[in-house]
Amino acid sequence: MAEPTHRFLRACGRLPVDRVPVWMMRQAGRYQASYRAVRQKVGFLELCRSPELIAQVTASPIDEFGFDAAILFSDILIHLPAMGLDLSFEKGEKGRGDGGPRIGNPVRTRADVDALRVPDPGKDLGFVLDGIRAIRAALRDRVPLIGFVGGPFTVASYAVEGGSQGFTRLKTLLYADPRAAHALFETLTRAAIVQLEAQVAAGAQAAQVFESWLGELSREDLEEFSFPYLARIAGAVRRAGVPAILFSTGTSTHLEALAGLGYDVLSVDWRIPMAEARARVPGAALQGNLDSTLLLGPREPLLRRTQALLEAAGHAPGYIFNLGHGIQPPTPPENVKAVVEVVHAFRP
Ligand code: CP3
Repeated sequence: MAEPTHRFLRACGRLPVDRVPVWMMRQAGRYQASYRAVRQKVGFLELCRSPELIAQVTASPIDEFGFDAAILFSDILIHLPAMGLDLSFEKGEKGRGDGGPRIGNPVRTRADVDALRVPDPGKDLGFVLDGIRAIRAALRDRVPLIGFVGGPFTVASYAVEGGSQGFTRLKTLLYADPRAAHALFETLTRAAIVQLEAQVAAGAQAAQVFESWLGELSREDLEEFSFPYLARIAGAVRRAGVPAILFSTGTSTHLEALAGLGYDVLSVDWRIPMAEARARVPGAALQGNLDSTLLLGPREPLLRRTQALLEAAGHAPGYIFNLGHGIQPPTPPENVKAVVEVVHAFRP
């Protein structure tokens, strides 16, 4: 394959770059006035199901902040209705819910697992694929587009708990009925793979697996219930011909094991010094890991830590500047802009 020219894709392949590429998880969202204006008019799921709005919302942070990659605007739970689950998002008014997901018929028994259907992306998720084509047209190849899915454990946590309600039911299922748990992860893995293949076929140029809550599992449970599935997803993405990125939090104790799963890039959270992470997994490109709370201000520690992170991680090829987790809604947009400027002023 020809060497990529976009600095984000070059960093994924551990090739030298002119500037450190920067994007931020949740870079399209409520901290932006333009996003809040769209959300005044349409609900969250309605937004996710409109190819035109997907393209508008995905492209807006590129225009506004000059990020080096765009990420598909969608959600890791978007396919659950096609799998047979009744998904909604709560309003998230002040003091009444956090705007989080709810599943009316959560997966609790083996029969519930067996009733799940693997979606057919062409039929069930056409709005995502049309959204990807509309984004690529809007971006005009200025920056590459990252597609994504949720990791099996993280998606299962919402499907089994019925929302953002912890992990006890899911983890109990692992021990009480490991065969049902494996059947659930198998179905969610197949759903992840068909979605990523369809996203790449529609124009996604990299794929990130959001396995946000992986840090809840012990090493033993990771090895039994997660790693084999995550490795299969990485293999499918690489066969589709684009770089695979694995994002998780609370997993820095397992970095070496994660590096063995076949991903091109590991996204690391803010808990581990980036220099230490780079030394521990020299064979992987790394993405991260500024604490997103620093973006809330003040400016001095924000920019000082941004610079320190660049010095620690940005001189060797294979580094993508990002946060340790997603941007928080109260983030002042000027702080995002200031960080992007400091990253782009740095000479790798
Ligand atoms: O990064 C991006 O800009 C792309 C869009 C994106 C969203 N969700 C939009 C969204 C991505 C990549 C996601 C992934 C996602 N969704 C994750 C993994 C990432 C992470 O931060 O750990 C998870 C756990 C979900 C499930 C989900 N969706 C939750 C728990 C919530 C409620 C919490 C919250 O942040 O509001 C959502 C809603 C959601 N997904 C919003 C956005 C912009 C807010 C909805 C709104 O506009 O009201």
